[in-house]
Amino acid sequence: MTDSHFKTISLARRGDERGALVVAEANRECPFPIVRVYWVFGSQPEVRRGYHSHRKTRQMAICVAGACTFLMDDGIRNETIRLASLETGLIIEPGVWHEMFDFTPDCVLLVLADSPYDESDYIRSREQFAKILRQRP
Ligand code: TYD
Repeated sequence: MTDSHFKTISLARRGDERGALVVAEANRECPFPIVRVYWVFGSQPEVRRGYHSHRKTRQMAICVAGACTFLMDDGIRNETIRLASLETGLIIEPGVWHEMFDFTPDCVLLVLADSPYDESDYIRSREQFAKILRQRP
């Protein structure tokens, strides 16, 4: 766990007259080694998904097309963050309850993760999340 459980970072736009290019390299723009990449698409505007926190997994989300909104709650800060730029990464550290909603139909949400998929890393109950927060030093 780090001091900042979630934050957005700016990713530099590179490129030239041929077009643009943005990089998220492990241990540089992305603050961890990348072990897994997945992308979420085809979520309609009325869909709300996520509804979980992770025990150990660190992630970085980038909206590479369209836009969507994250609700982020680490027990200290509860914020909504609109991801609508190819040059913004959202760092999601362990211990952050997150929900995603207000997807544009063209939204493609790319997620980089530092570990393999493991369902036991998920906290999918809000009550259990609250209990874990209460146990935090
Ligand atoms: P889910 O966690 O429900 O998505 P979200 O958090 O966006 O609401 O994941 C959807 C399905 O995909 C679920 O059956 C688990 C599976 N899944 C994998 O198999 N591997 C993965 O890396 C991820 C993220 C999900």
